[in-house]
Amino acid sequence: MNGRLLAIESSCDETAVAIVEDGRRIVSNVVASQVALHAATGGIVPEVAARAHLRWMIPVLEEACQRADVTDWSTLDGICVTEGPGLAGSLLVGITMAKTLAWLHGLPLVPVNHLEGHIYAAWLLDPDEPAHPEPAFPVVALVVSGGHTFLVEMASDLSYRLLGQTVDDAAGEAFDKVGRLLGLSYPGGPAIMAAAAGATRHERRFPRAWQGETFDFSFSGLKTAARRAILEALGADPAGSSPGDAALPPAEVAELAWAFQDSVVDVLATKTLRAAESCGARTIVVGGGVAANSVLRARIAEGAMRLGVPLVVPRPGLCTDNGAMIGAAGWRRLAAGARAGRDLDAKPSLRLVR
Ligand code: KG4
Ligand code: ZN
Repeated sequence: MNGRLLAIESSCDETAVAIVEDGRRIVSNVVASQVALHAATGGIVPEVAARAHLRWMIPVLEEACQRADVTDWSTLDGICVTEGPGLAGSLLVGITMAKTLAWLHGLPLVPVNHLEGHIYAAWLLDPDEPAHPEPAFPVVALVVSGGHTFLVEMASDLSYRLLGQTVDDAAGEAFDKVGRLLGLSYPGGPAIMAAAAGATRHERRFPRAWQGETFDFSFSGLKTAARRAILEALGADPAGSSPGDAALPPAEVAELAWAFQDSVVDVLATKTLRAAESCGARTIVVGGGVAANSVLRARIAEGAMRLGVPLVVPRPGLCTDNGAMIGAAGWRRLAAGARAGRDLDAKPSLRLVR
């Protein structure tokens, strides 16, 4: 089979549409980010996010079609859309757009799991990128996003065996919460990475939750430790819940950001590499917004090199939410016969593995 899919992603705070060929080659990939909108509240307000999707969905769709020169819809083979997990109101905007297009143009409607999209981002090729072989199975994939953190083994396409997952917060959520406590801008992930890069002291050490020999993760203890350290540095009551409006000197913010990031990266990288070794993985794949973190990327790359296992981490713009990743996963789902009807509904708590 060979062809073109239009893919829509609106599960959280990016309105995104892409055209992808053969499940790999990006033809166009347009993302309208709501970061500036949510920065004012320091986090996502679901109602505000859904309204912003409504505002941007059609302009983003038009831009994606224009960049890919789509004038004749019969040149497309299907419409893919994220059905979950995510915010119900946000998902519904993308789903309604996808249903309408599929019905209007007589195209198959393919429901896609957002988390599967984060994994299949590793299969994508940019428009001018030279083709290279697809990741070889078995694959060990780490997905680290704002809402999820887990490790899976894939023996073949679309098959997942859960190796471990977070027992409390997702890694991205911890970045966002600690970023807010440090007085950094939203989202916390990129802000902590930037602050940490400026640290001159690297002695502070936050705890690591190893969860025994398992491949599970836990970040709530680290978050509490970081909060106590921040309140202590501010001279506030460490048992208090919020640092209030007080601000730390930049050097101290940098040091704390570095120590927090060091702990998260250490656990994520160590467990991913250990999982790859124990599964005899032929490829390690990393996806999700936190995979945009350059320190995490470097740590896993170094370990994968030592193990002699090829590593595929998409470029940062394909680690955070985008439509192309939904097209990559949707292509495999279409080939496997996945079809949705006009009754397709948002699945806010959809899981990848049961
Ligand atoms: O995958 P994503 O775009 O949306 C979800 O599906 O959740 O991930 C967003 C998460 C946010 O928590 C954000 O802080 C984090 O990814 N993130 C990062 C970086 N860039 C985004 N975390 C650490 N370092 C980064 N450079
Ligand atoms: Zn995501």
